[in-house]
Amino acid sequence: MNSKRSIVITGGAGFIGSHVVRLFVNKYPDYNIINLDKLTYAGNLANLKDIEDKPNYKFVKMDICDFEAFYQLMQDEKVDGIIHLAAESHVDRSIKDPFTFARTNVMGTLSLLQAAKLYWESLPEKYEGKRFYHISTDEVYGALEMNHPEGIEPPFKTVASSEGHKAYGDEFFYETTKYNPHSPYSASKASSDHFVRAYHDTYGMPTIVTNCSNNYGPYQFPEKLIPLFINNIRHGKALPVYGKGENVRDWLFVEDHARAIDVIFHQGKTAETYNIGGFNEWKNIDLIKVMIKTVDRLLGNPEGHSLKLITYVTDRLGHDARYAIDSTKLQKELGWEPSLQFEEGIEKTVRWYLDHQDWMDNITSGDYEKYYEDMYKGR
Ligand code: NAD
Ligand code: TYD
Repeated sequence: MNSKRSIVITGGAGFIGSHVVRLFVNKYPDYNIINLDKLTYAGNLANLKDIEDKPNYKFVKMDICDFEAFYQLMQDEKVDGIIHLAAESHVDRSIKDPFTFARTNVMGTLSLLQAAKLYWESLPEKYEGKRFYHISTDEVYGALEMNHPEGIEPPFKTVASSEGHKAYGDEFFYETTKYNPHSPYSASKASSDHFVRAYHDTYGMPTIVTNCSNNYGPYQFPEKLIPLFINNIRHGKALPVYGKGENVRDWLFVEDHARAIDVIFHQGKTAETYNIGGFNEWKNIDLIKVMIKTVDRLLGNPEGHSLKLITYVTDRLGHDARYAIDSTKLQKELGWEPSLQFEEGIEKTVRWYLDHQDWMDNITSGDYEKYYEDMYKGR
């Protein structure tokens, strides 16, 4: 591959995208890194303050659905790589407003693919040295059964927890697992994944798709479980646990995801799919108790002080029971594995949010507060 690359990272002002942009800008001073983001409610340039003046970094405010503008950008910047993260990403919002998810996640991805196709096919070398890397989610695989509610030994090696890792069922998501999305969010991501693969199979575009489990860490928008709950515990506000809190998610520290994206962008095989996961399943309620314990300790509260904030609310519609990723393929073929044990990751994350209250306050003022109130009306 070319050493002087020109790469567009879409959604770079969001949670995961900002970690990917930071990693690429710092690690590859010779690359031209273009952060393309519409700055929706979830996009925040404050996430990138530390790298915004670097000479190899540029921000472009653009909607991924704007085909003409993106085609022009491809030509102006001679783009040879696209790492596509821009999306509507919150399941609860997709239940209220599925159209926005279809527009951005499906039509936006298609628009990027078509513009990249037209530009790359117009070049003498065509697809040689090019890459379209689409970031997706484990949620496209649907929901796994939780047939071992107390947990069993997993069949694979894990670095996830110092207390030993548990799996809550016999099944896992593999790269070969059939898609079976349930929420409007996962249906829109599944559809975009199919379009990406179709552009490889039909036109020969060098694509890659990865499906990752739930990420956590700094700069996550506080509508998602972990930052929302850390902030609520700090302020003594109710913690709205959906249903019985028994749903299981596999959690990965966001910087480990960004490292995986770097490895896969550079060394992954064209047209392949790689699952990325933390080998780290947690029932929501157990994870919430770890957060409560950590925040209380760091704030100097007595142990158990904030347990009273746990408030069981009406379940999310169609709430998937369990997600569990097997990322053995990525470990074996490209040598990636999660670097952090969960206890370390959650401690780092809680400390970050407690130390960055100004970042949180900027977001949680204004429109977002209103959205949040509406979301929980009637629960
Ligand atoms: P996020 O919601 O924090 O950020 C999304 C970013 O995309 C924002 O900066 C937003 O402004 C931008 N965006 C939205 N619509 C846009 C549009 N039409 N044009 C241009 N930019 C637009 O999301 P995230 O959690 O960082 O997720 C990033 C990607 O990773 C998504 O594709 C998501 O499906 C995928 N993913 C997320 C997780 C997770 O746990 N968060 C796990 C697996 C995969
Ligand atoms: P979330 O962070 O929204 O991620 P996803 O839905 O993509 O997995 O939610 C993680 C889990 O936490 C999920 O099972 C829903 C649950 N949850 C709550 O119980 N209460 C909440 O307020 C939120 C936002 C999520």
